[in-house]
Formats: sequence, C-alpha cells, structure tokens
Amino acid sequence: MNSFHDKRGVLHAEDVPLPAIAEVLGTPTYVYSQATLERHFRVLSDAFRSADTLLCYSVKACSNLAILSLFAQAGSGFDIVSGGELARVKQAGGDPKRVVFSGVGKTDDELRQALKAGILMFNVESGEELHRLDAVARSLRKRAPFSIRVNPDVDPKTHKYIATGLKTSKFGVPFEDAMALYEQSRRLPGLLARGVDCHIGSQLTEASPVREAVEKVAGFYVALKGQGLPVTHLDVGGGLGITYTKEQPPSVTEYAKAVLEPLRGLEVRLVLEPGRVLVGNAAVLLTRALYRKESSGKRFLVVDAGMNDLLRPALYEAHHDIRPVRPRRGKTTVQDIVGPVCESTDVLGASRALPPIEQGDLLAIMSAGAYGMSMASTYNSRPRPAEVLVAADGWRVVRQRERFEDLWRGETT
Ligand code: LLP
Repeated sequence: MNSFHDKRGVLHAEDVPLPAIAEVLGTPTYVYSQATLERHFRVLSDAFRSADTLLCYSVKACSNLAILSLFAQAGSGFDIVSGGELARVKQAGGDPKRVVFSGVGKTDDELRQALKAGILMFNVESGEELHRLDAVARSLRKRAPFSIRVNPDVDPKTHKYIATGLKTSKFGVPFEDAMALYEQSRRLPGLLARGVDCHIGSQLTEASPVREAVEKVAGFYVALKGQGLPVTHLDVGGGLGITYTKEQPPSVTEYAKAVLEPLRGLEVRLVLEPGRVLVGNAAVLLTRALYRKESSGKRFLVVDAGMNDLLRPALYEAHHDIRPVRPRRGKTTVQDIVGPVCESTDVLGASRALPPIEQGDLLAIMSAGAYGMSMASTYNSRPRPAEVLVAADGWRVVRQRERFEDLWRGETT
C-alpha cells in the first residue's frame, strides 16, 4: 500500500502533484509519503500486538533525520550498524534504550559510544568481538548487554547478494560456537547476556524460511535459559520483502504468524528489525528525461538520475518500475532507461515499454525508499539528490540537494 497515485493524468504523492515539487527543487529528488510511512509502521505494529514486541527500524534502509524522527514519534526503536547511525538516531530524538547494534565490524570507538549511550543490546557476530566488548565495557566500568547473532543456516530464497543466514556467509556464529560464547560470558564481568539474535536475509518473499529460522533460534533460546543464562530478548532481524513489480511477499499478518507461532508459550521480549517493508514503497525518485538516442536498433532514454542516486539496479539487477509522471498518449516503445554516469551498468531500467517521452518529461522511479538515498554516492562528482517529505498539510524539503562545495568539504588543494 502506498500513496503514489495517478490523479487526472498526473502522478501524485498523496495530494501533491509531483511536477509541483520538481518545478521548485529540480531533479533528481527523492519524494517520501508520510502517510505511507506511518501506515506501514502501524500495520506492522498491529500485527505483532499480541506479543511483547519492540520494533527497531533498521536505519540503513533510509536514514534521513525526518524519517527517523517520524518513527521515533511512533514509538519505534532502531537497529543500527555504525556510530554514524547512532548519532543520527540521537539527533532525530530516538531513544538509545531502544537501540540494537548489529554488524560484523564494530570498532572500539563505536562500542564505547553505544555503551555510553546506554543502548538495549549489542548483536555480537564473533568471539573476538565479544571479548573486545567485554574489555571496552570494563574500561568504562559498565556491563554490556549482548545477544549473539546466530546463524540458523536456512536458505532465505532471496537474491544471493542479500542473503545473510547461510553457513557460508560472513554473518553470525554457528549454534555450537554460540553456546560456548554464552558460557564464556559468565566469566567476563563486562558482559551481560540479554538475548539471542538472527537475521537471515533481505527482500524475503516466502514465510517458510522465517518460520524455520525462528524455530531454530527459539530452541536455542530455551536451551540458554535452561543453562541459567539471563536471556530475555529474541531478535529475529528484518527482511520482509515488498512488491517492486510482481513479487508476492507474505502479508504482514502471514509474516507475524511465521514469527509468533514458534514462540507460543515462551516468555520473551521479541525484537524486530524491519527496514525495507517500512520505507521501500514510501518513496519515488523523481527524474527528468534528458535525451533519447538509438544505437544499432537499441533505444535509450537518458535521464538525470544515475546509479550514484539509486544503486540497486546496477548492484543487484534490481527492478524498479518506472512511470512517466504525466503519461502521453501514443505507441509504447521498448527502451533502456539509463543515467548519465560513465559506467555501462548505469541502467535504471532495462527493456522497458514506455509511452512517448519528450525531452524534459518527468519520470518516477517507484519503490525507491529503501536503500535508495542511503546508498547514494557522489560518484562522478554528482551532488546527491534532494529529499522531500509529503504530508497531509503539504510538502517540505528534508534534505537539501548537495551543492558543489559539499562535494569537496574537507579536501585541500
Ligand atoms: N537487520 C540486519 C542485521 C540487517 O543486516 C538488515 C539488512 C536489516 C535488519 C534490515 O533488513 P530489511 O528489513 O530492510 O530487509 N541494500 C540491499 C539490502 C541490504 C540489506 C542489509 N541488511 C538492497 O538494496 O536490497
């Protein structure tokens, strides 16, 4: 469900016609819908209402302060993977006590910052990290609440680049090793076992791998409790997929069933780390047609957004629908929609059938809210896009378009 609809032949974000935004701000510009963001958060929370659940929005999916602040106000916690993300959460008014810190490569500085902030727990990914966490916590005379991210070794049936729960991935710790680490932690005074964590992958379009992972992790949680470890939290990560084109991911209700059924009867606080499902379909990337060209019978439409603005198609061969904002009548033609970046993979949409497009026409790259702006770069010295939040009372800029001076901030000649 999202709030990007055609009204009288013009694509709108809620009640705002997209050309109105492009006229003022230019392109490329990310446009988010507040109603969509809020609805997604509400629907997901409602689906887990029957259990003691903390939603920790995964900041990496889209880290704009306005969006973090919106989720903080809705009661969300946050899943972070760096000191930078922690700083963003604090800046946006998020509560550090509702923060979980994931990631395989936390530095001492990052561990210290998070300990000082008093986060809910560290999701630890290796034995060496656990020992660093103990040492850093002791140097601050604190105890670090932790979960080990276990690797349930299930096939998430998603794109190989975003699967993380298989034995061969760099993420997580096998169950056998994890048990030994929890045992060791009893003798390490800087540590406090708080829970168990897993995350099997992203853009999951089937519920069965989720259920399988939760069953395994819940069994492990029970075993830990049986050993007398003081665990209270079970973090099942994020990963629920969305519809970009024809995918049919489980509904939020089906997903909640897959997570909650294996936990029936367990006394546990459930933590979820949703990213894409909250923000993916809540934004479009607005771009303008620059040139049409044809070469050896192949047609290209060159637009002013490129792989630096939206990396997913180039990096994962990801599909995003591309729609003209004011569709013209006429014959459709199949063409590649490409950006201005000097790389052959700078293709935003391959072989797309589009109605006639003229120079200067606006197009919307759909479902661009997750891993869109947060993965944008300034490659080719292209300032990153502006970001706009549309709400019931109109729209506002939530990040200005970068200026050339921003490109070389910190550099010297
Ligand atoms: N928790 C952990 C530990 C994660 O690694 C991730 C995503 C999430 C939660 C949130 O997952 P989500 O609910 O968004 O699926 N850049 C890729 C996706 C990378 C996902 C990385 N981890 C993409 O554009 O498809």
